Amino acid sequence: MKTYHVRTSSKKYTVHSGSFGIKEIVHLVTQNLKCDRFFVLIDKNVNKIYGTEIQKEFNRQTGESYFFQMTSLEKQKSYSTIQKIYDELAKQNFGRDAGMILIGGGVVGDIGGFVASTYMRGIKCVHIPTTILAAVDSSIGGKTGYNFRNTKNLIGSFYQPDLVITSTEFFSSLSPKEIDSGIGEIIKYGYLSGKKFYEYLLSNYNSIHSLDKRVIEYVLQECISFKTSVVSDDEREGGIRKVLNFGHTFAHAFESYYQYKISHGKAVAAGILAANILSHKKGIITTNQLNSFQKLPAMMKFPKFLQEFDSTDLTRRMDLDKKNKSGKLNFVLLKDLGELLIDVNVNKNELNSALNEFKRLISV
Ligand SMILES: NC(=O)c1ccc[n+]([C@@H]2O[C@H](COP(=O)([O-])OP(=O)(O)OC[C@H]3O[C@@H](n4cnc5c(N)ncnc54)[C@H](O)[C@@H]3O)[C@@H](O)[C@H]2O)c1
Repeated sequence: MKTYHVRTSSKKYTVHSGSFGIKEIVHLVTQNLKCDRFFVLIDKNVNKIYGTEIQKEFNRQTGESYFFQMTSLEKQKSYSTIQKIYDELAKQNFGRDAGMILIGGGVVGDIGGFVASTYMRGIKCVHIPTTILAAVDSSIGGKTGYNFRNTKNLIGSFYQPDLVITSTEFFSSLSPKEIDSGIGEIIKYGYLSGKKFYEYLLSNYNSIHSLDKRVIEYVLQECISFKTSVVSDDEREGGIRKVLNFGHTFAHAFESYYQYKISHGKAVAAGILAANILSHKKGIITTNQLNSFQKLPAMMKFPKFLQEFDSTDLTRRMDLDKKNKSGKLNFVLLKDLGELLIDVNVNKNELNSALNEFKRLISV
């Protein structure tokens, strides 16, 4: 088991990462969280596979817990889902001493985290990520929210959890598509962490895919320690935390343009390819660097339709990006492995030219 600490001004908490069984996970929850009652928000597919055992353990160790299932689709990341959860919490008389346990991927975490941050002005919450993407990224750092008017995460809050428990045991039931999506977000850390990790990911790409235990454990360790440290330094994304959005301005636009037919992680990997081209267009990286930095995301297979976008429409979708300032488009761009530039202002001509080149790259 590895333990990491997040220390922000609003909360200090621990991330436990290991290959915990369900009994151990529930034990960690009850040991660390003193709550009257638990409201467990669980992903429907996760519930199908692990639900009986999870319910049995919660009931055995906590007396009684209330379970509520949700379907994890981007279109469910909406206010109407949130309303249903508020409704259930209120109907079941959950009070301020309630603890919310969020078991699922990033959709459950983002939605459940938002509910926890607002119900009764904030109740305790624990993230138990069940996808690779949620384990390396979304469960840590307290970003919560939902999609609004076809814009990703337009409404949300910063609300740190009280505890995060990551178990690699959940990954064995993930589909290849979900493993791929997790890898998309892992790739991002290759650029943030530096050359050594980037090269490790390049040479171990297939072992991550096949969930090789030793490789997955090392990858989780690198990603979680990077994320916990950045969040501790900059809880509300005033500066350095922005690097975690590398590739995401493009990614969110691709997701919304293709109506979420592309997974978040794959959109991030595509977004990184596009961001690197933009860095090159702006003269931040050389042609040699560009060729070398494209190798990792290029290992992914992208859907054919990804080249079909209309650039004007796609660019319009970037206008509501939270990194923009005074109506100007701002990007996180790569200078070198381990060296990112934040708040790089980009004009529409540079962006269009990068998008045209991205289309050419993706179509071969
Ligand atoms: N808050 C943040 O900091 C942050 C960071 C990155 C991504 N996100 C958000 O996370 C979301 C994507 O999360 P995700 O990739 O985890 O997707 P997800 O939550 O949609 O889950 C993907 C699919 O995997 C299934 N699933 C989950 N765990 C499973 C398991 N163990 N076995 C079998 N199936 C399982 C789900 O039912 C779902 O069908 C996006 O909405 C993205 O915006 C948030």
